[in-house]
Amino acid sequence: MKRKVIIDCDPGIDDALALILAINSPELDILGITIVSGNVNGKKGEENAKKVLKLMGREDIDVYIGEEIPLVRKLITAEDTHGGDGLGESNYPKVGGQVLYGGVDFILEKAKSEEISIIALGPLTNIATALNRDEESFNKIKEIVSMGGAFKSHGNCSQVAEFNYWVDPDAVKEVFDKSNVKFTMVGLDVTREIVLTPNYIELIKQIGGDVAEFIVSITRFYVDFHWEQERTLGCVINDPLAVAYFIDNSFCKGFMTYLDIVTDGIAIGQTLVDVGDFYRKAPNGLVLTDVDSKKFIRFFLGRIFKDNIKDIEKVINNNKYGM
Ligand code: RIB
Ligand code: CA
Repeated sequence: MKRKVIIDCDPGIDDALALILAINSPELDILGITIVSGNVNGKKGEENAKKVLKLMGREDIDVYIGEEIPLVRKLITAEDTHGGDGLGESNYPKVGGQVLYGGVDFILEKAKSEEISIIALGPLTNIATALNRDEESFNKIKEIVSMGGAFKSHGNCSQVAEFNYWVDPDAVKEVFDKSNVKFTMVGLDVTREIVLTPNYIELIKQIGGDVAEFIVSITRFYVDFHWEQERTLGCVINDPLAVAYFIDNSFCKGFMTYLDIVTDGIAIGQTLVDVGDFYRKAPNGLVLTDVDSKKFIRFFLGRIFKDNIKDIEKVINNNKYGM
């Protein structure tokens, strides 16, 4: 049985990789893509989602722009990380076509009529707005898997804050405090382990084809950013892990706990994972803490390059490359 899903995202380089993985995953029936401002503003995110759908021959999937500014904070985007076009300055041509708005209403309409889940890859502005607009319909959603936050891992926007939750901490607070929907936090503790290293990028390049070319092209800028920012060789691809975990929970381990978030001051965006049960509150989320990164990368590459699985296995199993 395919699982009906809406992917809420802010494409964004790793969002684009996550969309490619999701489109190549037969377990998913992607009902639509909703766009939230984050890495780039909503309009640019919509254009980028359409570029991926065109590349993958899936322009049948509709893209809806949702909320374009956070609930309270001023919007802060991340072109320094994802490039001015949001796809690593790859400057793929715009696809055009009708621009659809109403991302939040799309989520609520589907929640009312079908059993859906949400894979959230950006700030939670659309999710919180849907919750506040129609709580009854929202709570019919089966589960939300959200890339965001951090437990023990340091932040990527400050010492303590991860970008998605830092952009709109008030939206996260609404979801943590009011939602009754099963919630999994795919935070930096696990996504930081997923690095597309130069070896993997070269493997993708050698596999070749339009999709490989797209991935190599959009990640170049991201690799340079990672080197400049943190002397990482390659690039951390956060969002695809949320898709993989939604499909198969065995990629990660975690625990149920009470979650809260700091919404102002120096630690704004910090997720509070109450592992010590200090607040004595009921668990409201599952926090992921461990990931089988090799298993993930095999899954990721194998799903996207189905015809090249033998080559992928041969290269990854060859200890010379340390992959
Ligand atoms: O902190 C990483 C997250 O913020 C990823 O989803 C990335 O795409 C950005 O949205
Ligand atoms: Ca994202």
